[in-house]
Amino acid sequence: GANSLWGGRFAAGPSAIMQRINASIGFDKALWRQDIAGSKAHAAMLARQGIIGESDRDAILAGLDQVAQEIAEGRFQFSEDLEDIHMNVESRLREIIGEPAGRLHTARSRNDQVATDFKLWVRDALDRLDGDLKALQAALIDRAEEHAGTIMPGFTHLQTAQPVTFGHHLLAYVEMLGRDRSRALDARARLNECPLGSAALAGTPYPIDREMTAWALGFDRPTANSLDAVSDRDFALEYLSLASICATHLSRLAEEVVLWCTTQFRFVRLTDAFTTGSSIMPQKRNPDAAELVRAKAGRVIGALNGLLVVMKGLPLAYSKDMQEDKEPVFQADETLALCLAATTGMVRDLTADPDAMRRAVEAGFPTATDLADWLVRSLGLPFREAHHVTGRIVKLAEERGVGLSALPLEAMRTVHPAITEDVFGVLTLEASVASRTSFGGTAPDRVREAVAAARERFL
Ligand code: ARG
Repeated sequence: GANSLWGGRFAAGPSAIMQRINASIGFDKALWRQDIAGSKAHAAMLARQGIIGESDRDAILAGLDQVAQEIAEGRFQFSEDLEDIHMNVESRLREIIGEPAGRLHTARSRNDQVATDFKLWVRDALDRLDGDLKALQAALIDRAEEHAGTIMPGFTHLQTAQPVTFGHHLLAYVEMLGRDRSRALDARARLNECPLGSAALAGTPYPIDREMTAWALGFDRPTANSLDAVSDRDFALEYLSLASICATHLSRLAEEVVLWCTTQFRFVRLTDAFTTGSSIMPQKRNPDAAELVRAKAGRVIGALNGLLVVMKGLPLAYSKDMQEDKEPVFQADETLALCLAATTGMVRDLTADPDAMRRAVEAGFPTATDLADWLVRSLGLPFREAHHVTGRIVKLAEERGVGLSALPLEAMRTVHPAITEDVFGVLTLEASVASRTSFGGTAPDRVREAVAAARERFL
């Protein structure tokens, strides 16, 4: 039969396929808490403004509490013919309290209702995300402190560049995650305006108090333009953007873990808790969790692209297209939370192999820049010439199959006769990292300071 909520104008119900394409209850039931909170705030405001009576308000509030309890306890019958969470809740309210339920939807529309619910949901998601990011930062900072002086190759082009410390490398990710948290905070502040009371698109003739509902729901203020309020999904796009950037950070770290776990690198080892074996190759220990974090970033980025494409052609105000906004956000949120938990687990689980890191860094002439800098400082060579001289010395060492510090002084002097014994002081890995004391540099003392500062800033 015709719909109980708009059946006045409709003689017949929808076709089965119409119902299936139209219904959002399958996923928007996730908004039930927000929907009930919004309705309670709205009912309280309607009564305070004299738009509904106090006994109707009391019946509505008590009825909504009962609906909430039924949903929380898993006793609620969600129905697809009631399309979405808003109509499911209202319809059950009518069953429980009867006639007063029909007064709840005064001075509002599902358009402002859904925008309000969804903002509240995204706001909670941002708060959860901040906690998850902080937990990963804490794990990285702990491991960075432990490895403040552990020397590893620093890379450019994935070629050994200069020695750095493992602690310094881990703290790089702490900075990235700090920016992710700050983006989440920005997005939260920007979304925190309440659409409720914008009604369908144009506002409402009832004497509502939008400040009251905004404050009751923890918003800073009501939205300023009713057309914008029901059409705006920037908050979802911002959430997905910052989630995509964050997932990209996790993916880069995951990629490094995958590399570091190879027999070629061996920089780290994950325990059985974070690896899988092969059904055919008994020697294998595969870092599947890291590979999946790397892969799942694709889903989050896909969700962002999906919603951008949904939104880009929509005229003002609401169109049903906008119902497609929720699944990408829900899915991205679930995926990102899982990836953050897995990454935190791996960071805490991994064991570094300082010997393997040292072997790797020694193989790549990592102190060549230190030699060039010595030539500048001690012999007064212009840097460009020092670069050239160092290149020829590296070539000699390569031909002999030794590192720079094992190359005899006489050999170096064939390239530049003024080089002295002193040069060996800058050619060790320890001297190299210890010398990089500029703010933000890799010197172990600097890294220890950075660990303490990161605890202050982030934890
Ligand atoms: N289920 C709808 C959504 O998620 C609620 C808003 C419906 N509004 C409308 N005018 N049909 O967007």
